[in-house]
Amino acid sequence: MHILAIESSCDDTAAAVVSPEHRVLSSVISSQNEIHARFGGIVPELASRRHIEMIRPVVDAALAQADLGLDDIDLIAATQGPGLVGSLLVGFTFAKGLALVRGLPCVGVDHMAGHLLSCLLEERRPAFPYTALIVSGGNTSLFAVDSPLACTRLGRTRDDAAGEAFDKVAKLLELGYPGGPVISHLAAKGNPRAIRFPRARLAEHSLDFSFSGLKTAVAAHVEGQRRSNQPLAVEDICASFQEAVVEVLVDKTLEAARQTGHCRVVIGGGVAANPRLREALTQQCARQGLELFMPSLAYCTDNAAMIGVAGYYRFLAGELADADTDAYSRSPLN
Ligand code: KG4
Repeated sequence: MHILAIESSCDDTAAAVVSPEHRVLSSVISSQNEIHARFGGIVPELASRRHIEMIRPVVDAALAQADLGLDDIDLIAATQGPGLVGSLLVGFTFAKGLALVRGLPCVGVDHMAGHLLSCLLEERRPAFPYTALIVSGGNTSLFAVDSPLACTRLGRTRDDAAGEAFDKVAKLLELGYPGGPVISHLAAKGNPRAIRFPRARLAEHSLDFSFSGLKTAVAAHVEGQRRSNQPLAVEDICASFQEAVVEVLVDKTLEAARQTGHCRVVIGGGVAANPRLREALTQQCARQGLELFMPSLAYCTDNAAMIGVAGYYRFLAGELADADTDAYSRSPLN
């Protein structure tokens, strides 16, 4: 059996072919970073237009890379939500149309479910249940995951997502978009203790996050330096900001594992590619006797392979989409 998966929830057009055993036969991603970089963030209308241009070539490339044709495909899975509706509609409608024409089953997949299961694409896979931190440009949430189809949200951000904070701080420092990779690169050369930015822990034992105060603190620091004609120590600002984000993400993930009693911790989402977060979680999980599972970098950021995995389980549960099934902008999981 071969699953053709499509992902177009935000600014990447992606397609992949995966097997029911979670083997990735191909994974193709067409990034729109260049289009949005000069605006310092994603422009939804430009994103959907680019998806329309790229969806067919990306799907063709995924099939070619897997050395397969449409006749070899048995199931089509596509991201149904959450995300930018214009972007989602391109991939989801393409998938439904292709399935209709080819007489294939089609499943709509929640993007969050894809991130929650992205670790299953690795050779070393977690067994269920596990505690998962999903941390990206649109989400920062903790989940208890009992099976591929059953999860409970434990906490989420009350304002900005961690990736959004990286992107906004990068914009403030005029470092371009997306902010995460450039900030983590500069942070590696800075002193994480140079500036003591705030850590929002909210109530004791709370598993919710808040990053808007941290973003404001960075803005106030930058403004203060500029007003007093002081040079900006950009590397130190990046390192100190990153440390504040990482410290909270790690502490709350460990607290979530304590509360669930799970011995396995999983991370996913674009910010899970952050080297400092990976290092800190590795150290802390080892110290607490927790098993940590992290997707490889290619499966942290948006990709279609994870949608194929999540789609396969929806298919097994008989949750098929038909021509009338609509895309949605907010996740019922979150
Ligand atoms: O999962 P993703 O590709 O898209 C969604 O938001 O769904 O995540 C993109 C986010 C962006 O905010 C980007 O700045 C952040 O992930 N990101 C990182 C790193 N690489 C990507 N954040 C911190 N460190 C990184 N190395």
